[in-house]
Amino acid sequence: MNEQTEFFKVDGAKCVKCGFCVRDCAFKALKTGDDGRPALADAAKCMRCQHCFAVCPVGAISIDGHTAAEAPVLRDLALPSAESVENWLSVRRSIRRFADADVPRDKLDRILRSLGNVPTGCNARSLTFTCYPDRESMDRFRASFIHAIESHRDGTKLLPRWLAVPAIRMRKGGEDLFFRGASGMVIISSDETNAEVTTPREDVAAACAYFEMLAQANGFATCWCGFLKLVQEAVPELLEVTSGIRRTTPFYAMLFGMPGIRYQRGVVRESYAKVDYR
Ligand SMILES: Cc1cc2nc3c(=O)[nH]c(=O)nc-3n(C[C@H](O)[C@H](O)[C@H](O)COP(=O)(O)O)c2cc1C
Repeated sequence: MNEQTEFFKVDGAKCVKCGFCVRDCAFKALKTGDDGRPALADAAKCMRCQHCFAVCPVGAISIDGHTAAEAPVLRDLALPSAESVENWLSVRRSIRRFADADVPRDKLDRILRSLGNVPTGCNARSLTFTCYPDRESMDRFRASFIHAIESHRDGTKLLPRWLAVPAIRMRKGGEDLFFRGASGMVIISSDETNAEVTTPREDVAAACAYFEMLAQANGFATCWCGFLKLVQEAVPELLEVTSGIRRTTPFYAMLFGMPGIRYQRGVVRESYAKVDYR
């Protein structure tokens, strides 16, 4: 065994030779060995998705030193019902009014740690969650953002009005049209320097959607912050100096906080997403 193959191990005494792992391997990195047990066919094809590990009925497989004993337990009863997920989706709202309070830090920690489980293309798992967790941190970000706008000097390019005018108003204590007065924000980004990332934008968007769901399930209000994306496109250096997000970094931002508004009902959509069975 060399370093390339040591990450996949089978406990021969436990393995019942069911073949589930070999059949579930998406890229055929596994084969059935001469002894009827799984073996690596091509280590380079393994994307470490751990499906073989998860499907094994007897916990005979270890990956990268992880054994079945450490794996999260499947609890069917803990899954939300189809009705509750459907109901949430029909009444969920983008909330743009936040209470003057921080979200509980322990809940935020749990949510962000849980997001390590979101799916990513080819299991690249190359996401970063840059989090401004509370009002203090968010206010520092706001201040440095306004400062960056005000000290922006680029003889060739004027700041767009949609950016400069509300920023000046905000500095003077006016409405925060950019970040909606949120107590926190998470910027979810993908590593553009990692050649193994095949679907950076999709990975980011999926993580945002899961963040929205988990955060709202914890009683937080959330709103997608498309505004920062516009800033990256129009004046990327502003984002670079305030948050380290480069002009080439795929990212999206989510605002969050405790809700400052309560909706009484869902909305009535004029049209539903087009469903086209073939
Ligand atoms: C990718 C994306 C970007 C968005 N950007 C913003 C934004 O910058 N500011 C904002 O107030 N709402 C933003 N939204 C929220 C949408 O405006 C909102 O989802 C839509 O109006 C429907 O309202 P609902 O989410 O309450 O159903 C964004 C939503 C998505 C999915």
